[in-house]
Amino acid sequence: MVKAYNFDLSGILSIDDLRSLAEKRVPRVVFDYLDGGAEDEITLRENCRAFQDVTFRPRHAVAFGACDMSTSVLDMAISMPILLAPVGYSRLMHPGGEIAAAAAAGEVGTAYILSTISGHAMEKVRAASAGPVFYQLYLLGGRGAAEAAIERAKDAGFSALVVTIDTAVAGLRERDFRNGMKQLLGENSFAKIPFLPQILSRPGWLLRFLRDGGLPKLPNIVVPGEGIMPLVDINAALARAAVTWNDLCWIRELWRGPLVVKGVLTGEDAKRAVDEGAAAVVVSNHGGRQLDSSPATLRVLPEIVNAVEGRAEVLMDGGVRRGSDVVKAICLGARAVLVGRAYAYGLAAGGREGVTHSIAILRSGLERTLRLLGCSSIASLDLSYIRTNFHHANLLPRLTGTRHSSMG
Ligand code: FNR
Repeated sequence: MVKAYNFDLSGILSIDDLRSLAEKRVPRVVFDYLDGGAEDEITLRENCRAFQDVTFRPRHAVAFGACDMSTSVLDMAISMPILLAPVGYSRLMHPGGEIAAAAAAGEVGTAYILSTISGHAMEKVRAASAGPVFYQLYLLGGRGAAEAAIERAKDAGFSALVVTIDTAVAGLRERDFRNGMKQLLGENSFAKIPFLPQILSRPGWLLRFLRDGGLPKLPNIVVPGEGIMPLVDINAALARAAVTWNDLCWIRELWRGPLVVKGVLTGEDAKRAVDEGAAAVVVSNHGGRQLDSSPATLRVLPEIVNAVEGRAEVLMDGGVRRGSDVVKAICLGARAVLVGRAYAYGLAAGGREGVTHSIAILRSGLERTLRLLGCSSIASLDLSYIRTNFHHANLLPRLTGTRHSSMG
């Protein structure tokens, strides 16, 4: 693996600091791919802004020793309620890519979710982590390719399968178009020329990219009769890869382990997912990258917790940049959160060390928030620690019964 570089931690106190460093380290096309959202980026901004509408009700003048940040997801023990979300093309951000992120998650005892759109083979990613690793499935390359991937994920020891349902087509991320993402990933060398200055202005990234062999293929999408899918086919392939509720039947039959449905934004879809056998749902709008003007996930979280009625675990993602955000989501009924950009900025800024640092920022923020709230464990968080105008009727009684019950 290419070694991480001069990662200077001094002065990097927040995820936003890591974001600024990432912007300096990778070409604009890569940074904007990671940072940007769909169309007017309303949902992207709202995801973060919604956290500002929740304030705390601390209990002061209480003392306790250790703070218990551990929890479990799908009966798997994790050291804190923060999982690393699937982030496609991670290997473009840094050659360590998915291997670096999985290893960093495992090191702190939490879970990593590997995207279908990954540049490292799933077996190597699984082997890199000491913690649980989940596989996120897109039906890219068709059912045959997906079936082969599920079999491989089973053999490799992945702990859960995450089916993302919000990607019927790719959202319009205008920054990617303007920066020439398509041309730079394509095969026509002449088409790349207008977009090359942004690449040449980041020689460190370019050197690592070339040493890593240039554009990676997608080793986890093996199309029967055709082989490994090249990176360039991805957008067209996504449009042919929409998953439906009917697909969940054969996916569940083949997988047989815990199934997670990611991309739920309504109580109706949450109920349907559970009826189709999901052991957990992820309240997610894909980090504002798909349907713009989807609601902020934090705002719809209570609706989904109420709809699920404790029949499955409810996870959420979108806009988490601080440990205090994690606390707010848990008070509103999430069992745990996923973070996407928060760790991907770290990956782009400093490879594995960068991911480790971003996890450390979130973890220390989480502990500090619990201590300042006067709450000694994640398990004791509930609505009484926050104030919000979100609609969360019926949440409190169900919450108490839900979060502490075993999934069986
Ligand atoms: C994503 N996300 C995503 N989700 C998924 O199911 N499969 C994927 O391949 C990807 N790829 C991807 C790439 C990049 C660059 C980003 C930023 C996000 C969505 C991701 O799993 C998660 O839902 C969001 O990132 C959560 O929002 P935050 O934490 O980034 O605000």
